[in-house]
Amino acid sequence: MTLLYKANPERGQEWRALFAEMAPDVPLRIWPDVGDPGEVRYLAAWEPSLDLIASLSRLEVLFSLGAGVDQFDLRQIPPSVTVVRMIEPGITQGMVEYVTFAVLALHRNMLDYREAQREGLWAPVRVVPADERRVGVMGLGNLGQAVLEQLKSFGFRLSGWNRSPRQVEGVTCHAGAESFPRFLAGCDILICLLPLTPETREILNRETFMALPKGAGVINVGRGGHLREDDLLAALATGQISGAVLDVATCEPLPSGHPFWTHPRILLTPHIASMTQPKSAARALLDNIRRSQAGRPMHGVVRREVGY
Ligand code: NDP
Ligand code: OXD
Repeated sequence: MTLLYKANPERGQEWRALFAEMAPDVPLRIWPDVGDPGEVRYLAAWEPSLDLIASLSRLEVLFSLGAGVDQFDLRQIPPSVTVVRMIEPGITQGMVEYVTFAVLALHRNMLDYREAQREGLWAPVRVVPADERRVGVMGLGNLGQAVLEQLKSFGFRLSGWNRSPRQVEGVTCHAGAESFPRFLAGCDILICLLPLTPETREILNRETFMALPKGAGVINVGRGGHLREDDLLAALATGQISGAVLDVATCEPLPSGHPFWTHPRILLTPHIASMTQPKSAARALLDNIRRSQAGRPMHGVVRREVGY
């Protein structure tokens, strides 16, 4: 029941130490030291090659080392392999911190002050009370709900939009494609925390921006593929969108010369909104291995038919 780890080799050494301490009974190998491929039952990876997966003839579970699974080509992974996304408190905490920062940055006009500072202008902007600011989250999953929980503490008017109906206390929840325009009409700040699937690809597009109140802010912490970048640039040029905080891009790293690098109304970060934390992630993964061994359901099993 060997676990093979294939990702950043430095972190791999951290995982080795953690597993030696927490689960000496689970043999851990760090790629490329696969050992006997026939012994590998579990693969923890970010971007494993299909050749590697095919070589592991008795692979039972592919664990994503991140919350997303869009880096896998699910159609090419044998149906006998269960795919599991990462749910662990370190990712959640990081995302809550980042989105709180991003919402507050837009809410308190930090893009204006960044420009003003560059120009040497002392230019106060009227403060809008939080209870007059409408903040909406696309995707009421693990991360979306955690973010909303934190945002409640500021008193924002909160809403959420999800595929299936959800109830979140203190949040006006919308579900399904037909309710999307109504949801958007009530968002001064829109946060994308969706998984990237064929349904959600380029969901942040011209039509979406036009359905928001004029001057809305956009935060994309999902995937670069959620955003049609030219449509954002056009919406920023007209003022339909007043600012954006982007942690992800269609092409990562963002190519030099890309307009996002220097855009005064875009705050850009290099896909760091949250990071898998080895300690808590190893604990979560081990819990899932124990569950799988005991025939109990694992947390975060991917439903291939919906792609997340
Ligand atoms: P979850 O699977 O827990 O939640 C996803 C939510 O999105 C679910 O509630 C789901 O609805 C909803 N959803 C899926 N498809 C649609 C759709 N077509 N329309 C409306 N709602 C939809 O994922 P997490 O919250 O853990 O993570 C979300 C994403 O965040 C990840 O997939 C990843 O892309 C991104 N991420 C980014 C990071 C970064 O550093 N930038 C770090 C970590 C994650 P339902 O309840 O019906 O299933
Ligand atoms: C993730 C990510 O999916 O870091 O966990 O993007």
